[in-house]
Amino acid sequence: MLRISKSWCAVLCFCFSLVAANKDDYKIFNVSLNGDSSISLHWLIDYPKTKLAFEIHLPSEFGWFAFGFSNYGEAFPADYCLLWRNLDGKLHLIDTWTNDEGVVDLDHHQDCSNFRYKTTSSGITKYTFKRKFDTCDNRDYIIEDGTTHIVWSRGLQRIVSPKGLNISTSDRQNSGMIRASLLKNLHANTNLPSHVQTLELLADKVKVPAEETTYWCRVFKLPDKFKKKHHIYQYEANIQASSQGLVHHMELFHCESNAKEEIPLYNGDCFDNKRPKKTEVCKRVLAAWAMGAQPFTYPEEAALPLGGETFNQYVMLEIHYNNPELKSGIIDSSGVRFHISDKLRQMDAGVIELGLEYTDKMAIPPGQESFPLTGYCISSCTSVGFPQEGITIFGSQLHTHLIGVKVYTRHFDALGRELPELNRDNHYSTHFQEIRRLKKPVKVLPGHVLITRCDYSTMNRKNMTFGGFSISDEMCVNYIHYYPRAPLEVCKSSISEQALKTFFNYMKEWEDQPTSESKGVSENYYSIQWNKMRVQLLDEVYHEAPLSMQCNMSSGNRFPGYWENAPVPAVSLPLPPPSRDCHFDDQK
Ligand SMILES: *[C@@H]1O[C@H](CO)[C@@H](O)[C@H](O)[C@H]1NC(C)=O
Ligand SMILES: *[C@@H]1O[C@H](CO)[C@@H](O)[C@H](O)[C@H]1NC(C)=O
Ligand SMILES: *[C@@H]1O[C@H](CO)[C@@H](O)[C@H](O)[C@H]1NC(C)=O
Ligand SMILES: *[C@@H]1O[C@H](CO)[C@@H](O)[C@H](O)[C@H]1NC(C)=O
Repeated sequence: MLRISKSWCAVLCFCFSLVAANKDDYKIFNVSLNGDSSISLHWLIDYPKTKLAFEIHLPSEFGWFAFGFSNYGEAFPADYCLLWRNLDGKLHLIDTWTNDEGVVDLDHHQDCSNFRYKTTSSGITKYTFKRKFDTCDNRDYIIEDGTTHIVWSRGLQRIVSPKGLNISTSDRQNSGMIRASLLKNLHANTNLPSHVQTLELLADKVKVPAEETTYWCRVFKLPDKFKKKHHIYQYEANIQASSQGLVHHMELFHCESNAKEEIPLYNGDCFDNKRPKKTEVCKRVLAAWAMGAQPFTYPEEAALPLGGETFNQYVMLEIHYNNPELKSGIIDSSGVRFHISDKLRQMDAGVIELGLEYTDKMAIPPGQESFPLTGYCISSCTSVGFPQEGITIFGSQLHTHLIGVKVYTRHFDALGRELPELNRDNHYSTHFQEIRRLKKPVKVLPGHVLITRCDYSTMNRKNMTFGGFSISDEMCVNYIHYYPRAPLEVCKSSISEQALKTFFNYMKEWEDQPTSESKGVSENYYSIQWNKMRVQLLDEVYHEAPLSMQCNMSSGNRFPGYWENAPVPAVSLPLPPPSRDCHFDDQK
């Protein structure tokens, strides 16, 4: 066993032998695993070796502690590194997996390596281990960019052996799940210049209800100095210590209206029917934070404009409180801290919405394990919308509502040759919508094509799900953050009206479904009795039928052009799937 000094990171620093190339490479991230932060996770990323080093702190009273990963946060089946106390009191770490019933089995390949631990005099156990992103063991979870669902559980009884242990429990004190993006961008956080000032937009002593989910909305009028244009250089969460683990995500919206329009200073539940209608214009995302996210820093070339003569001075903070333990009596004043300056950077950053139009023309049949919808940003739109020298995308926020499980955006040049993907989340969750800095900024030229696809799971739905605004409707959007700001703001598609009519007509003529010319779009979708073949046909139609494009400017108007019945962009040369550095033949 190593000798370990007092500093908490001593263990992690010891077991992680990086060459001191850059201070950033040693960055240690952390997230609390339970509500009161008594169990926490700290990690370092070694990109050259494609390894993570984890350190976990927890109270020492336990017989076993399982820490691992699952696809969408289910406790089992899952991949666990299991810490357990032998009958003689020694701790061991073992690579395990749990079957569909929550029963533990041992992996043939042991991939929770370099285990070390210590127990502090204050009764905290700290342990570390390393884990490859991809261990090449089919029993192990592959850690990828985007969302990772971290699951844990513990038992207070000592066990004789981990094999056969049943980790299934409904006890919220002894199990949990959090989402984190583990493979963070190490080089995104640049230092701020000294002329930067802070602007805090915080909740005002909110009595957090003893309910699992609360969305709290507070409208602010910006201080007078924002009649002059400022730049946001960076923003971060300001979470009260007593609300750690409770504040799940926050968004700041700009109230998109003319500069003179007064918006009521609403402060209450977002879904309360007393919320004034006028606050509905507060929906243009300025900032988004989700649990585990680091400060979001704009790249040196650009920053996000806030304020100015034509800028409506109202913004709205939305906080999602997640209170599964139904605690009562918590008062919260968390919010977002902005680092701003009236010294403007060279360029304004902007946001473009890629993906699907919000329309019931796009729909997802019920009972599907995974059904895709795809939104196109076509060549003729980027040709008119982007400056000649193109734009540089440095950040991306993927967005769906409740049933989105995977989202990605592919990038093609004007000849249909695929370039590296813009962003991808294979374990997407609507509850973890960070704006992420891309590890490599992406240059997109006029004429290029961006294709955003979302996969939805409707196993729990009995009826059709439609594209739309309501939380029970779906969206498929990638908000890309880029510079220099261009006139293009919306580049989204849906199936052309004509093609959809043809589909409904086909359903009537050949499949004997009660669709009809006189019925509306959603009514027609409802009319269809969905079976495997019809679902597959809809999928094919969506991927081949001509498009109706929304190629809009920030003024809300379309770019001049003809945007109906555009062909689906042709892919001439797709990229091969990413290769894994594995030698599967030497495994059982
Ligand atoms: C966790 O990270 C935050 C910064 O993101 C830092 O302020 C805090 O001190 C860290 N906590 C621990 C226990 O290291
Ligand atoms: C595991 O434990 C849960 C609850 O504690 C129980 O319902 C389940 O039947 C057990 N499974 C097996 C395979 O023993
Ligand atoms: C689906 O919803 C529509 C509209 O509310 C309703 O008419 C229809 O009966 C529903 N279908 C099923 C299978 O529940
Ligand atoms: C795009 O512009 C058209 C025409 O002005 C408008 O009807 C539509 O709502 C706009 N779409 C978005 C998403 O702004």
